[in-house]
Amino acid sequence: MKNGAKLTDLNPSWWKETIVYQIYPRSFQDSNNDGIGDLRGLINRLDYIAELGVETLWLNPIFSSPNDDNGYDISDYRNIMDEFGTMEDFEELVREAKKRNLRILMDLVLNHSSDEHAWFHQARKSKDSPYRDYYYWKESTENGQEPNNWVSYFAPSAWEFDEQTQEYYLHIFSRKQPDLNWENPQVRQEIYDIMHFWMNKGIDGFRLDAFVLISKDLDFPDCQESDLEEGLSRFYGNGPRMHEFLQELHQEVISKYDMMTVGEGAGINSEEAILFTDPQRKELHMIYHFDHMTIDKQPGQFFLLKDFDLTTFKKIITDWDQVVQEGGWNAVFLGNHDFPRILSRFGNDGVYKKEAAKLLCILLLTQRGTPFLYYGDEIGMSNVPWESLDKFRDIYVFDGYEKHLKARGSEKEFLQNLKHTARDNGRTPMQWNTSLNAGFTDGLPWIEVNPNFEEVNVETSLSDPDSILNFYKKMIQFRKSNSILVYGDYQDLCPEHPSLFIYSRKMKDEAILVVLNMSEKTEEYSIPNTLKVEKCIISNYHGLPKKVDQILALRPWEARIYEASLVKL
Ligand code: GLC
Ligand code: CA
Repeated sequence: MKNGAKLTDLNPSWWKETIVYQIYPRSFQDSNNDGIGDLRGLINRLDYIAELGVETLWLNPIFSSPNDDNGYDISDYRNIMDEFGTMEDFEELVREAKKRNLRILMDLVLNHSSDEHAWFHQARKSKDSPYRDYYYWKESTENGQEPNNWVSYFAPSAWEFDEQTQEYYLHIFSRKQPDLNWENPQVRQEIYDIMHFWMNKGIDGFRLDAFVLISKDLDFPDCQESDLEEGLSRFYGNGPRMHEFLQELHQEVISKYDMMTVGEGAGINSEEAILFTDPQRKELHMIYHFDHMTIDKQPGQFFLLKDFDLTTFKKIITDWDQVVQEGGWNAVFLGNHDFPRILSRFGNDGVYKKEAAKLLCILLLTQRGTPFLYYGDEIGMSNVPWESLDKFRDIYVFDGYEKHLKARGSEKEFLQNLKHTARDNGRTPMQWNTSLNAGFTDGLPWIEVNPNFEEVNVETSLSDPDSILNFYKKMIQFRKSNSILVYGDYQDLCPEHPSLFIYSRKMKDEAILVVLNMSEKTEEYSIPNTLKVEKCIISNYHGLPKKVDQILALRPWEARIYEASLVKL
């Protein structure tokens, strides 16, 4: 809060206070043993979710889809994917969720449809089809090349030649995900109608998939190879009509409900972020950014690692907090279905896994912004140890493999990196118990269960008072009962330290101090004399330190929360 702002200045809202739990329905719980998670399975697990204490569920897409990109290629926006169940199952899910005070966010893929959507079937039939303009079509260049050099995430080129009408269509993702043309008002109206359709079924909002791409540079300029990395924000997306489209969407849909929207803000930087979430501009409630999702990757590479640097990470968090200081809001997350497991990536999945998983839980639940938890992180699920390509399922992996071989030629390098970077790391079945396939299915799971399930699973965690799961439950209650954690001022107290992350949250005269040692070494920290530390209230090691010293010695991956008060000097 800036200069003594009051809580009311921050416009308290349920979507700021809620804790979101993201579910990848394909991997959560199978109920009919076809190896694929489904809505009935999810309904059967709602008690588990409610007991966790979270209040909002984000479901990855559950609409009809041929699953080229696991549901992000939608062939019918008003129906449920066959593998996941029926509309009746969905309606029951909404009812059962409401009984447990759980809200539901659906995942709206608004930048592209499936090539198997009726709109695209019509569009590709002829240049005169009334649906032709639902998509982007272009002729080839004079020398018979693609209209420009844009690269697709999931294919070599973002353009695919269509024999029937002898033109190319644009697909920033796979060939089976043609981009919808938001310049066409009918397309926008279709999307608004779809949103109303689902809101009227009783859901509470949407996560807006890849929304940054809906406004493009209509000159479709070639970009230099060195620019491709930035293509997302400079060419493919965040175009001249970006904010106009979002304001229209707000006017047509968002303003009509008490709902929540969270946009997937890939490519948006912290300086422009306020434009998307300033309530006065009437666009979105929050976006989540990718700045900390690229810091351990080689420039422009999704699959190739580089070392994680904590000081950069902390700077990113501070930069983004500016958005809240300016009146906007943030989403806080460390992982989701597009990234590896947080424990392996930002924590430690070896000897200190329990401590590290709890530390990350504290980190997620003490930041300013709406926290997004991802299924399985609450029991300490980690990356997979797979050595061969055939274990992977993600289209991004297979395309990445082709591109990597072409550019660098080393299969070994790619496979070694995959274990740390592939999206499939975060998509393996939820580990419920020690029975066959971790209790996810009695059939053949669509993707293998992480072999560590005998140790890492819900059943074992529930019976261990010291488990990661029980720690999550405690922390969730702690956040829910302390509005300082939602709204209080955020300050990084030692931005330069390479392995300690120490920050305060302040509101009126109250303060909370969070101390995190994100390394395997013991580290010391002197509390600044502007803070008087009263007592340690949460720790990820056994027992709470009784004595409070101004100098703290923090053991490997140790995390503590202190109550503090401000000292006027
Ligand atoms: C978003 C989704 C990702 C998907 C892509 C294309 O980035 O999170 O999973 O592959 O959009 O829809
Ligand atoms: Ca199933």
